[in-house]
Amino acid sequence: MTEQTYDAIILGGGGAGLMCAAVAGQGGKRVLVIDHADEPGKKILISGGGRCNFTNIGAVPDRYLSANRHFAKSALRRYTPADFLALVDRHRIAWHEKTLGQLFCDGSARAIVAMLLDECDAGGVTLSLGRGIGAVDHADGRFRVAHGDRTASAPALVVATGGPSIPKMGATDYAYGLARRFGHAIVEPRPALVPLTLAGDDMLFRDISGVATDVVARCGKTAFREAALFTHRGLSGPAILQVSSYWRHGQPIGIDFLPDAPAGWLTAAKRARPRTFLRNQLAALLPNALADALWQRIGLYGDLNSLSDTRLAELEHRLGDWQFHPNGSEGFAKAEVTVGGIATDGLSSQTMESRKVPGLYAIGEAVDVTGWLGGYNFQWAWASGWAAGTAI
Ligand code: FDA
Repeated sequence: MTEQTYDAIILGGGGAGLMCAAVAGQGGKRVLVIDHADEPGKKILISGGGRCNFTNIGAVPDRYLSANRHFAKSALRRYTPADFLALVDRHRIAWHEKTLGQLFCDGSARAIVAMLLDECDAGGVTLSLGRGIGAVDHADGRFRVAHGDRTASAPALVVATGGPSIPKMGATDYAYGLARRFGHAIVEPRPALVPLTLAGDDMLFRDISGVATDVVARCGKTAFREAALFTHRGLSGPAILQVSSYWRHGQPIGIDFLPDAPAGWLTAAKRARPRTFLRNQLAALLPNALADALWQRIGLYGDLNSLSDTRLAELEHRLGDWQFHPNGSEGFAKAEVTVGGIATDGLSSQTMESRKVPGLYAIGEAVDVTGWLGGYNFQWAWASGWAAGTAI
């Protein structure tokens, strides 16, 4: 079998791998991308409800989780949302800002994959799709990779196979096994940006599956103000997905159901409308079904005038920090991303190159850097891919 030689082999043709390939290729390197999927960028295609939330204009390092919160700084500073936007504009892809700095395509996410493939083309990148990665060897400063019935070798190998979230789409934990083999540590991978499941008394909230409301969701010291959604299994919606990345088994999630209500709102309501029933007071501010569900759990049936100010203050506090005790999450099957991954202390934050094995790189979701919901994860894929692509 003849061996094809390259300057770099990239394992994984997702957002990070394609960006890295395009940059290295346009920098004059001969690049091969290997992916077991029959088309590249599958997660890009389904992202953002098919319109790809391709970046966030507020993609600053403190919106990323990592065991080393400084690690992402360098790459994010050197390849910014404005850089990616310039690329999008150069390819005449129409976009809009939705909310909270989130930028989406006006049309299909397919335009982003087409753009990355055009950029790869411009760099003369070779794609090997629909072939599994076979044996990977490293000797004499070269990596040899079997893919299908072929073998390729290069002095640089980039691990860009992402994390295990959504295995149905071809996601695997391949990156972790390979990194371990080369002496890298793995920060425990956990499903993130994932719905949480409820059990016990909380389970009764499943009755209001489909109800959504604007809340502040808290996990420990971290809080997000966005919509929460009750589902037939538990809690979802952007606010819950955001806190899920910080959540650990056993921790409660606190929900402020009335984030806009000023302190003392219930006693003020009592003075203004003493004959109002608590249920009706709640229904004036919350979706009916939720007001009912909360009222039944509170179990106070009289009008506001029948309740002492102290009792109302307690109630106000409870509604502002309602405690849920998730018994788990919907797992990697439903998680948008993975928290954890290849430990950053084994990588250069400038180039993403391994500190242990020269020529080995890791980028994108495979690395222990995870963004908030809202375009942050793609920005990390572009930025880390760019950092490695320029360094190879
Ligand atoms: P990615 O997973 O994209 O690519 C890895 C590639 O490696 C894949 O092509 C896979 O086929 C290949 N691969 C894996 N194992 C392999 C193996 N063993 N052999 C060969 N090939 C292998 N982010 C965001 O910023 N905005 C958004 O709108 C969304 N929306 C969204 C929706 C959904 C449903 C999901 C699941 C995720 C998102 N995300 C998102 C997250 C985003 O998709 C994710 O962070 C990036 O795709 C990560 O890019 P990578 O290139 O690192 O991995």
